Amino acid sequence: MSDVDAVPSPRTHQEAASIARFANDVQYYLKLQPRQLPSRYLYDALGSALFDAICLLPWYQITRAEMQLLAAHGRSILAHIPHLTTIVELGPGSGQKLATLVRAHRQRSLRLDLHLVDVSPSALALSSRTLSAAGDVRIVTHEASYEVGLAEVAREAHAGRTLVVLLGSNIGNFDLPGAHAFMRGIRSALASGDGLLIGADLVKSERELLLAYDDPLGVTAAFNRNLLLRIDRELGGDFDVTAFAHQAVWNETESRVEMHLVSLRRQRVRVAAAELDIVMEEGESIWTESSYKYQPADLVVMLEGAGFKLAEQWIDSQAAFALTLVEAV
Ligand code: AVJ
Repeated sequence: MSDVDAVPSPRTHQEAASIARFANDVQYYLKLQPRQLPSRYLYDALGSALFDAICLLPWYQITRAEMQLLAAHGRSILAHIPHLTTIVELGPGSGQKLATLVRAHRQRSLRLDLHLVDVSPSALALSSRTLSAAGDVRIVTHEASYEVGLAEVAREAHAGRTLVVLLGSNIGNFDLPGAHAFMRGIRSALASGDGLLIGADLVKSERELLLAYDDPLGVTAAFNRNLLLRIDRELGGDFDVTAFAHQAVWNETESRVEMHLVSLRRQRVRVAAAELDIVMEEGESIWTESSYKYQPADLVVMLEGAGFKLAEQWIDSQAAFALTLVEAV
């Protein structure tokens, strides 16, 4: 392995541990058939910036639709949960969506504890900055997976009620059994009367879905291909990013948009830190993300099966996007 790029040495223990985990995942998922990479690795500093740019694209309506729903119904959302003292956001991104909710809470007397859970340090830094300007709040960040972050929050005692928010259609990255298990996991971290707010993108026309995930400016393509750049940099890979094409596919049977990176020629790829040496055929793809699209009623059924009852559902029918608020039974 002497002819591959050198791997830069990590600075801290935590950094070393997360790079080891990344290397492990790359080795495991790239050897699977079909080859895949977990979508959580799309969000390094550049990936997060590219995702923020995606949210500004005219063809990607999720963020704007959700912000409008939160601004219009923030007060109603909060009115469903009296004595709210804690909000946990899983995947806060830039923090702007939660800031909208916090502003709706401002007239109230109770100070809010905000727990931000994200695997991306840059997302945590950005969202903390945005939210500290939004009101009288105490911010706690958890650089962790949703499950681990939730467990950390659940270990603390809470004076009032808790609201968990999972926005931006982040639920879409889970397959159906995974989403259901995840909702049950959230329920077990909550007490009866606590709330869960989920923003989920809905099924719409294939044309709209493909424009959202393969935009004419090529920002989503850059977002997807950046994953290979990250592997090259952090794990000493030798991916040629120009030899992979971005592809978005609407899989109607599974109700999901898939992102792929398609190899444009037969090529050998090595990743030093993952001890990986593979040959990819021309046309062979790496499946990098699934974004499941829901029917509004299916969300409610799934949440009810996980120990919640419906409080209210708000739908933007133009963008085909739903905010669903449920209460832990
Ligand atoms: C942040 C996971 C909700 O699936 O729509 C945007 C990420 N991928 N464009 C999504 C994404 C391609 C996004 N989520």
